[in-house]
Amino acid sequence: MLKNTLFCILALCFVTTAIGQNGNPSDYLSAQFHKERRQAFRALMPFNSVAVFFGNPVRNRANDVDYVYHQDPDFYYLTGYKEPNCVLVLFSGDQLSADGNKYNELIYVQEKNPSEEQWTGIRLGIAGAKKDLGFSAAYNGEIFLKSGINFSNFDSVLFKEFKEDNGDSALRDKADLYKLIESFKAQIGYKTAVISKSDSKGIGDVKSKSITASKKENFNTNAIPSFMASLREIKGTEELKLLTKAVRISAIAQREVMKAMHTGMSETEIQGIHEFVYRKYGSEFEGYPSIVGAGNNGCILHYIENSKTKVENDLVLMDVGAEYHGYNADVTRTIPANGKFTVEQKLIYDLVYQAQEAGIAASKVGVTFGSLDGIARQIINKGLLKLGIVKSEADGNQYFPHGLGHHIGLDVHDPGAYNALESNMVITIEPGIYIPNGSNCDKKWWGIGVRIEDDILITPDGPLNLSVEAPRKWQEIEELMKEKSVLSNYTVPNLD
Ligand code: GLY
Ligand code: MN
Ligand code: MN
Repeated sequence: MLKNTLFCILALCFVTTAIGQNGNPSDYLSAQFHKERRQAFRALMPFNSVAVFFGNPVRNRANDVDYVYHQDPDFYYLTGYKEPNCVLVLFSGDQLSADGNKYNELIYVQEKNPSEEQWTGIRLGIAGAKKDLGFSAAYNGEIFLKSGINFSNFDSVLFKEFKEDNGDSALRDKADLYKLIESFKAQIGYKTAVISKSDSKGIGDVKSKSITASKKENFNTNAIPSFMASLREIKGTEELKLLTKAVRISAIAQREVMKAMHTGMSETEIQGIHEFVYRKYGSEFEGYPSIVGAGNNGCILHYIENSKTKVENDLVLMDVGAEYHGYNADVTRTIPANGKFTVEQKLIYDLVYQAQEAGIAASKVGVTFGSLDGIARQIINKGLLKLGIVKSEADGNQYFPHGLGHHIGLDVHDPGAYNALESNMVITIEPGIYIPNGSNCDKKWWGIGVRIEDDILITPDGPLNLSVEAPRKWQEIEELMKEKSVLSNYTVPNLD
C-alpha cells in the first residue's frame, strides 16, 4: 500500500510539472543541449570537412492523408527541429560569409506559409529557428537548392547514405526533401552507380560500390553513423530526465494493465490501456508498434497484429514502450490473463527471470554486451536442459533467438558501439524463452512465450533499473493482479 501511494505521488509530479506557454509542455531538450551536441559532433569531424544532415521524409498513408510525421533522431538530437523538409550543415572550421561574418553551421527549414499552416499547423520558420533553436544562420529550404556552398573545397563531405525512396511522392512543396536531396547531389556531383545484382553480396556492399563508382574521393558516408553512435550512446542529464520519464510511464502502464487484465479482453484492448496511460502522461507516440501477444502469439518476437479477440487463460506477452519528447522506453512483462501462472508457465517464467536477474546484476561499467549475453544465455540453456526441453545446452538458442539487450534513447534500438558498458548508457536487459506450438519437446510446453525486459541505467555504483515500478517476480505479479483497476467495471454499449 505504501509503495502504491508513493507511486501515485511520483506519478502526479509528472503531470503537474513542466507546463509552458500556451499550455504546451516546456520540458523539451533545451536549445543549449542541441548546441552543445553540435559542438561535440564538430569536435569529431576531420579537418576541413562539412557534414550535411537531412530530416525524415513525409510519408503518404493514403490519398491526401500522410503518416504522422516523426523527425529523424540524429537531426532532432542536433537541432530540436521537429518539422520535415529541412537540412543541417555543420562545418569543421569557421567559414566566412560575403559580409565578413564567421559561421560554422547553417540550418534550412520549412518556409512559413499561412495558408498551409491553417491546415497542418504552425511552422517554426526562420525566426523560430533563430529564437527557439538558437541558430544564427537559418534559411528557408529553397535557399539550399542553390546553396552556394562549394563542396569541392572540402577534404571530406560527410552525409548519410541516401535511402532509395527519399521522395515525397506528392511533391507539393517547392523545397521538399526530394528536391533538397536531388539539389545536394547535383551540387556535389554525386551520381548513383548502377550495380548489377551479380556484383553485390549485400546491402553494405552495394553502398560502398556506389560511392566508389561515383569517383568522388571527398565523400564519406561512414563517419556520421559512427560519430553519432559515439555521441548518442552516452546520455546527458537532460536526456536521462526524459528517458527516465518515458520508462516510468511505461512501467506504470504495465501496472495498470496487470490490475485491469481479465480473460475476456482482446489483445488490442490491452494495447489500448497501455497507450491510454502513455497519453495521460503526455507521451506523444509509442516508441515502436506495441506488441501484445497471447499464448502462441507471444512466441512471435515482433507480433504487432494484436488481433486475438479473447486472451482467455493464456500468458500474455506485452512489449510496449512510451515515447516521451523523443525518448523511447522498451519494457516487457508477461502475465497470466487469469491472474495465476500454471506450473509450466511458472517454470519457464522463473528461468527467464533468473537469467534477467543475472544480466541486470552484471550490467556494470567495463562489462561487454557480449559477456552479458553469455551470462543470461548460459542460465537459460542449462535450465532448458534440466527441464528436458532440449537435449543439449547448445540447442537452447533456438528458444532464445535474439540478443540480450540494446541501447535505448531517441531510437528504441539506439545507436552505439556495443562494446563495453560506460556510465550513463541506458540499455535493455531482455531475455526470453519462446516455445511455439509444434516444437520438438513435450506438448505441455507448447505455446509458452515469455520475455521480461527492463531498462537499465549504467552508473559508477552499478545498474539502476528504471522500470522497477512494474513488478517482475511471479509472486508480485499475481499479487498485483488481485487488485482492482478503475477499468475493471468500465463497459461500453454492445454494438452487435
Ligand atoms: N521492442 C523491441 C525490442 O525489445 O527490442
Ligand atoms: Mn521490447
Ligand atoms: Mn528491446
